[in-house]
Amino acid sequence: MTATQLIALSTGVFALAIVSSSCSSPKQGAASPPAPAARQLWGEMKPVVSVKELMRDMIDPASDYVFDAIGGVDNKRGSLETLPKTEADWDKVRTGAVIMAEGAYLLKVPRPFAPPGDENHSTGPDPEELSPAQITAKLEHDPVLWNAKIEALRNVGLQVLDIVKRKDAKELWDAADNLDQACEACHLEYWYPGEKAFLRKLDKRLDDLYGLKALHPDRTRTPGMEPPK
Ligand code: HEC
Repeated sequence: MTATQLIALSTGVFALAIVSSSCSSPKQGAASPPAPAARQLWGEMKPVVSVKELMRDMIDPASDYVFDAIGGVDNKRGSLETLPKTEADWDKVRTGAVIMAEGAYLLKVPRPFAPPGDENHSTGPDPEELSPAQITAKLEHDPVLWNAKIEALRNVGLQVLDIVKRKDAKELWDAADNLDQACEACHLEYWYPGEKAFLRKLDKRLDDLYGLKALHPDRTRTPGMEPPK
């Protein structure tokens, strides 16, 4: 085959790829799933630890890189804000963001929720937590919801990555708030749903008293739901 033939052939293949991808692209718009070819993995994925251990040893420490990067104290001399300043400070925030944005998808790999024999605080009267079997049943009943919670966490990871690129330290406050909400929203659904009713009541009460706007005066986006543009 000559070089010209090769180019012609590859151009043809390329054109075919465009045609087939535009034919198969679903009509629902930007949020639709990628084409089947893009969905394939390079290899198998096998879990090593339970969800509980993944939380303890990966997701939780990763989130601390973000939570610990900011802080503030108010005292007699005024208020003092901690924000990332040096390259090393920003490196840590980026590490946390990457682990969360990428690591969130490890929650899509089927794995036990807790190590064998660990039933969580799910026994006795008024148990605080669901058992691993109850969590599994909830997930199997509505896998779309589980995946939505994963995407919410990933989106905050993306938001933080974007902030790191722009080194916009002030925005980290908003991101940390979103992060907290992304963790809690999943935990309230799958880990300790008993608290949900309680928190809802509390929210309503605070709203009645002060209005939710007073609690989140400078919120700019729905927690963890919108990826940064
Ligand atoms: C997609 C759902 C989901 C998201 C998002 C999520 N978690 Fe979890 N997490 C769980 C579930 C489910 C458990 C309970 C597993 C069990 O004990 O059976 C858990 C448990 C934990 C635990 C307890 C670990 C232990 O050793 O007892 C910690 C800590 C934790 N999560 C931290 C976090 C933090 C921090 C975030 C956000 C940065 C987060 N999680 C986001 C689902 C989630």
